Formats: sequence, C-alpha cells, structure tokens
Amino acid sequence: MVVAVDGTSGSGKSSTCRGVAQRLGLAYLDTGAQYRAMTWWMLEHGVDVHDADAVAARAGEPDLVSGTDPAGPTITVDGTDVSAPIRGEAVNGAVSPVATVPAVRARLVDLQRETIAAALGGRGIVVEGRDIGSTVAPDAPVKVYLTADPSARARRRALEEGGSDAAAVEASLRNRDQIDSGRATSPLTITDGAVQVDSTDLTLDEVIGLVSGLVVSAA
Ligand code: C5P
Repeated sequence: MVVAVDGTSGSGKSSTCRGVAQRLGLAYLDTGAQYRAMTWWMLEHGVDVHDADAVAARAGEPDLVSGTDPAGPTITVDGTDVSAPIRGEAVNGAVSPVATVPAVRARLVDLQRETIAAALGGRGIVVEGRDIGSTVAPDAPVKVYLTADPSARARRRALEEGGSDAAAVEASLRNRDQIDSGRATSPLTITDGAVQVDSTDLTLDEVIGLVSGLVVSAA
C-alpha cells in the first residue's frame, strides 16, 4: 500500500500522515524534510540558494538518510541529525527556491522511490509532499490532496512554532505556496484521482479518521 498525500504548506499533512501511518502500521516518509535538509546543507556550504546552477552543481553531494518510523521520524545529512535546524527561519525562506531546481528534484525523487520500494517489502508507506501523487508515486492506490484556509494554516503553524507572529507566518506560507504551485518541474497540483480534503473545520482526529478510511477501503 502506498498512500500519497500532497497539499499546501501548513495544511496538517505531517500530523495527518504520521497519525494514519501509526494507526494502520505503515511506514512514513516526509519528503519536505528532505528538501529542507538539502537546503540546510546548501546554506551550511555557502551555496547561493538563488543561483540554480550553483545549487544543481552540488545537489549530488549531501548524503541524506530518512528514518521512516511514524512515531519518531528522523533525518540526517552526512551523519548529522538536522531535525531541528531544518525547521528554522533560514531554511523556511530558502527551501522553495532550492526545490525548483530540477537536479535537486531528480536526486530526491530517486531517493524517495527507493524508500517506497523498500517499504513495500513490509505493509506499505504513507508519503507526504507536493508531487507524490503526480510524479513520485503516480500509481499509488490512495491519493489525498490536503488543504485548509491560509489563516487557519498560519494559526496552527504559529502555535507549533511556540507563538510566532501569525501574520508573518501566513505571509511565509503564501509565498511558499506561490513558488511551489508556479514552478516548471512538478508543481503542486491536484492530480487525477486525488481525494480533496479541506481540514479548515475538522479536528486532526477527524482528518486522520477520514484518510485512514480511504486507505482501508482501497486495501
Ligand atoms: O512540507 P514542507 O512544508 O516541509 O516542505 C517544504 C518545502 O519543500 C515546500 O514548500 C516545497 O518547496 C518543497 N517540497 C517540494 N516537493 C515535495 C515536498 C516539499 O517541492 N515533495
């Protein structure tokens, strides 16, 4: 079973996917964390993230490893745990430009397909991102497009970040949505066969229940 969950920034994808994976005994892959880890590495190495050629030239260098336990997903780059720094402001502001670079996407899509293939030896995997249903796993039997009202998304993200300014968070989310939807290589779109779920007025438990129900019916 492969469950492809795409959607806008802050729509609750991570909490939903981890909840569904835990409930159904599936593995979990956060592809956004991989784009963030690639971005963190570029910043650490002084690469200009707005210079697509410079980013492409070094996209093959970092060694990224994602743990797929939904109870405690991990991500390391060259052996360093980067779970915390990839959520900081520097990476928030730089990740969408890095994610537009085709060489970055090609490398990470390969890595994601390897992880999915490995998980299919077990019970399966829930994969979250922007291009999972369209590009990474177009044959996934369950595809979900998750979104929510921008102000609801910003409120939730600001709370998660320990009381950041919701207006600033909303501006940053909208900026990422715009770049993610407008880029040439695998933009964020609602792919054929995806079930759209708007979480604005739903609790997390309700969304987890709804998506789990889709998986159980497809199994
Ligand atoms: O999901 P998250 O907000 O952590 O993703 C961070 C960024 O990584 C997104 O805004 C997008 O630019 C990029 N991304 C992507 N394709 C994916 C997952 C994330 O382009 N499959």
